[in-house]
Amino acid sequence: MIRTFEQMNLLSVSLLAADFGFLARDVEMVNLSEADWFHIDVMDGVFVPNISFGFPVMKAVKKCALKPLDVHLMITKPELYLDDFKDAGAEILTVHYETCPHLNSIINKIKSCGMKAGLALNPHTPVNLAENIIHELDLLLVMSVNPGFGGQKFIDHSLRKIEQAKELIIKHSCKTLIEVDGGIDAQNASQIYSAGADVLVAGNAIFSSPNQKEYIQRMKNTSKR
Ligand code: DX5
Ligand code: ZN
Repeated sequence: MIRTFEQMNLLSVSLLAADFGFLARDVEMVNLSEADWFHIDVMDGVFVPNISFGFPVMKAVKKCALKPLDVHLMITKPELYLDDFKDAGAEILTVHYETCPHLNSIINKIKSCGMKAGLALNPHTPVNLAENIIHELDLLLVMSVNPGFGGQKFIDHSLRKIEQAKELIIKHSCKTLIEVDGGIDAQNASQIYSAGADVLVAGNAIFSSPNQKEYIQRMKNTSKR
């Protein structure tokens, strides 16, 4: 997780787009691929207009996953469940700025539970709102779609936000990784890494591909423009 100011070019595969009838098979595909993390999207039907899955499914994934679980919480009151997410296997736990009035407290609690702490920003939430917390964060997640659903189109303005996030991290000399989530595929990956992203999330593009492992390899090999 540690970075100086070098780009990491990591790939986190969103299981939201997996075939839940064959979840162990899809987890194994990711294990055998060049992907780095499993991206786990937890939605509560309140913060976002969709419900995904919770602890039993996460625990089932954890049993067969050989790579870290990068858990993206799209839920209100995430502070109520930190220990549960740790027990279910989360290594990185990301909460949304828009759901956390006591951000400093929750970020510190995530870390004291033994997880890496991330902060997600909705597409309309300005990057500078993270200025007073950036030095505490292991990860800053720039949402490039409105959260709630896979398979949406990448919002182009996100590229500017990634650049601003990078500037903020450099300004504060911190080691926070920039993750970008939503509408990413092998065509736009290079541009997004080049804007300053360290970790790309991809779901639909990978799972709808006829050769998923090869598609992951293509995304990992994307050269910077
Ligand atoms: C959207 C989720 C994303 C989603 C990405 O709310 O946070 O992680 O699964 O899926 P694609 O890659 O299909 O946009
Ligand atoms: Zn996500």
